Amino acid sequence: TYFISSECIDVKDRACVEECPVDCIYEGDRKMYINPVECIDCGACEMACPMDAIRNSSTVGRSDVFAVDNADYFREPLPGRAEPLGNPGGAMKIGTIAVDTPFVSTYGS
Ligand code: F3S
Ligand code: F3S
Repeated sequence: TYFISSECIDVKDRACVEECPVDCIYEGDRKMYINPVECIDCGACEMACPMDAIRNSSTVGRSDVFAVDNADYFREPLPGRAEPLGNPGGAMKIGTIAVDTPFVSTYGS
């Protein structure tokens, strides 16, 4: 699957969102997150990102910290929430989530 890495943090260009045929790129506060269950691996987002922030975990490795963090965004409860986000089936309908994983919120500080 594909995931979004550090280069998106505090940039959020959003060109990737326009390209995704299944609308599986969700908006946190500092960065965007790809839902690994909903992503169909089309790769369109990877080419669109001007920051080269999007990677394929089968190339980079599933243990990459941002690959794990992207998956955790959906499978672990986010700060301030009791339940995990899960697989909402489309980012547009839920809008900006405005929360990051603890890893991303403190990244670089
Ligand atoms: Fe981020 Fe690149 Fe998308 S900067 S919002 S991954 S286009
Ligand atoms: Fe969408 Fe990118 Fe996956 S365009 S389907 S998130 S590879």
